[in-house]
Amino acid sequence: MMILLVAVVALAAAGILFRWCEPGSNRRLPPGSMGWPYIGETLKLYTQNPNFFFATRRKRYGNIFKSHILGCPCVMISSPEAAKMVLASKAHLFKPTYPQSKERLIGPAALFFHHGHYHSLLRRLVAASFSPSAVRGSVAAVQTIALKLLSSWEHATSPICTLQEMKKYAFEVAMISVLGGEVEAETEGIRCLYGELEKGYNSMAVDIPGSPFYKAMRVRKALNERLMRIIERRRENGGGGGLLGNMLRMEAAELRDSEIADNVIGVIFAAHDTTATVLTWLLKYLHDNPNLLQAVAVEQEGIRRKLQVEGERGLTWDDTRDMLLTSRVIQETLRSASIVSFTFREAVEDVELQGYVIPKGWKVLPLFRSIHHTSDFFPHPHKFDPSRFEVSPRPYTYMPFGNGVHSCPGSEFAKLEMLVLLHHLITFYRWRVIGEEDAIQYGPFPVPKGGLLIQVTQRRRESISI
Ligand code: HEM
Repeated sequence: MMILLVAVVALAAAGILFRWCEPGSNRRLPPGSMGWPYIGETLKLYTQNPNFFFATRRKRYGNIFKSHILGCPCVMISSPEAAKMVLASKAHLFKPTYPQSKERLIGPAALFFHHGHYHSLLRRLVAASFSPSAVRGSVAAVQTIALKLLSSWEHATSPICTLQEMKKYAFEVAMISVLGGEVEAETEGIRCLYGELEKGYNSMAVDIPGSPFYKAMRVRKALNERLMRIIERRRENGGGGGLLGNMLRMEAAELRDSEIADNVIGVIFAAHDTTATVLTWLLKYLHDNPNLLQAVAVEQEGIRRKLQVEGERGLTWDDTRDMLLTSRVIQETLRSASIVSFTFREAVEDVELQGYVIPKGWKVLPLFRSIHHTSDFFPHPHKFDPSRFEVSPRPYTYMPFGNGVHSCPGSEFAKLEMLVLLHHLITFYRWRVIGEEDAIQYGPFPVPKGGLLIQVTQRRRESISI
């Protein structure tokens, strides 16, 4: 009897182990390690530099390998062809997926959690609101925000934390993009509450009093109340400006107020930390490459002279089109820093990918950073060299804004925002990075340690008018 019991237990354990290692045993899963039961390779990924984790596995297993992260089996891909399939040509087989805490705090109706009809409807609207023709008219407002930020630095008595300052800038610009130029009584309240909300984004979705998630959910409720007041007023007055106005006027979709609120928070989330982090890297790379900074300054001085000759006018969209070198510096910063290192999708059915099977329910992670740092596509990938963008990169080798159905609809707006700030920073100020450290912190995007402390001095005596 005892022998039989031991045999049954041993068989069950072997069965569990077998299923853990090779679910769907007769199909060909990608190579790789699933790590320990349940924990998988989570600790390995989160206790070391994530680039090391991806690079070592890619070297060992190739461009498609399996792993097990945060309780989910997953497949990581770093070939342009596989990325194309997952993000674009077979995108219908891979739905976006986010941690539960993020989805509930941002709001489940935000477009990036969706797939299919609701997503395409909203996406058309968001993309139209941030298309080059729509954002042309925002340059003056963005410029006012940039000038206000920079002039506040003139009185700084201690080093400036670049990331924190860029977050202020990107937040203000994001608010303009979603609410338009109108001054709303609730704007300041929204700003304060949003700062509290984002503290919960990376928490566990445990809704018990006292937990970070519980606190953030209460903040989210308070944010909703303020947004509802704005929405109610605007419904009576024709919608108003910004993405909010466009959503209120979108008769075909007839969005509910809660769906509109979720998408307002969603766009602030998507636009804010991303742009601030890239701006921080821009200042770091320009500081570390003085010859390049000099060449960029020459380009920006040329534009500044033109503005002076034409009656001290402000920047326009067309001026930003003349910033060719500065734009290449932004492109190279996006590649080199690759702040969105990867994205998550989930297979909605069993999918065959380059000879392997990805079982239904498995996560798929296109590794943007690994692709951006492949020497076949970007020779000497660790060198900061904007001239590589004098020639367009091969398709699906350069995806700082993603690709396919969920690619970033705010990419042109983000670039505009960065060009406007750089123009004024470079022509009016100098900055010096404090400390020689090259360390990086992850929170969640990679950023120079401490947020890049800088000291700023004025380059021109004349003060800038706002
Ligand atoms: C430099 C700054 C930015 C970077 C690097 C960036 C990057 C990205 C990436 C990689 C994606 C695709 C994610 C995926 O496929 O899962 C994305 C999506 C998105 N981004 Fe951005 N983004 C930036 C700025 C912005 C701005 C300024 C806005 C809005 C004004 C914005 C709005 C969005 C939205 C709404 C989505 C979701 C699109 C969808 O699911 O259809 N982003 N972004």
